[in-house]
Amino acid sequence: MNPVVVVHGGGASSISKDRKERMRQGIVRAATVGYCILKGGGSAVDAVEGAVAELENDPEFNAGCGSVLNVNGDIEMDASIMDGKDLSTGAVSAVRCIANPVKLARLVMDKTPHCFLTNQGAAKFAADMGIPEVPVEQLITERNRKHLEKEKAEKGAQKSGCPENLGTVGAVALDCKGNLAYATSTGGIVNKMIGRVGDSPCVGSGGYADNNIGAVSTTGHGESILKVNLARLTLFHIEQGKTAEEAANLSLNYMKSRVKGLGGLILISKTGDWVAKWTSTSMPWAAAKEGKLHAGIDLNDTTITELP
Ligand code: GLY
Ligand code: GLY
Repeated sequence: MNPVVVVHGGGASSISKDRKERMRQGIVRAATVGYCILKGGGSAVDAVEGAVAELENDPEFNAGCGSVLNVNGDIEMDASIMDGKDLSTGAVSAVRCIANPVKLARLVMDKTPHCFLTNQGAAKFAADMGIPEVPVEQLITERNRKHLEKEKAEKGAQKSGCPENLGTVGAVALDCKGNLAYATSTGGIVNKMIGRVGDSPCVGSGGYADNNIGAVSTTGHGESILKVNLARLTLFHIEQGKTAEEAANLSLNYMKSRVKGLGGLILISKTGDWVAKWTSTSMPWAAAKEGKLHAGIDLNDTTITELP
């Protein structure tokens, strides 16, 4: 099979031109990292983990370093990963002092009999696996401190929910052997309650991968995505014979009409068709296939370049 990787960097409305450009560069870098892994014979799971870790390390995105702050000015991150070969999956939620939640989710998948670890249990497992603890200050950016202050001033201390500008990151990949995988990682929603868990670590909502159907990673308003199981819903439409584009439109429009939720998703079908779609204002995304890199943020601004 021709390998394919698609990545997203959540919503990106109301941001400066400069930051948009930095997001575009970050998303292109992540797609390139994922594509190099696939071209080097790496698995789809390795590719999505590598691409998402790249975005977690980039402070422009709301995951890892650059995560948005909760009501206490603290960071609680969620991530998940899935291997479409055998539906094995790993997830973590409310993790604090690690750089790459997606790598911890991978270890939950590979090294435990469970699918999902949370909070102190996830932290203990990270320590047992030798993942270094990083001070939370290292993950907090000045931009996110100001973002929380502004949110509290405008909406009050207990109201979170800015449905746009979320910046969750994710990747889907198809490797040379026909295996599909997804990974999604996020800091969640600014000003969220302590302990709030969104869609991103929840398999079926934040993503899904099945070699027999396709792979999806989602972004957007977590509570809405959870209510409609956005990722699995999209793959259901593929199972019903819809194209990747039709399936993405049907599920995103359903979320919009049924629960007034906005978001976006990336999808690769088992035959290697891919799509990036969103109902939010914008979504940084990039896709690499057959030596070409497609990328965009707003509607109708797709660029296509040759990969090195
Ligand atoms: N179905 C309950 C559990 O496995 O946690
Ligand atoms: N979609 C990311 C979140 O709501 O947590």
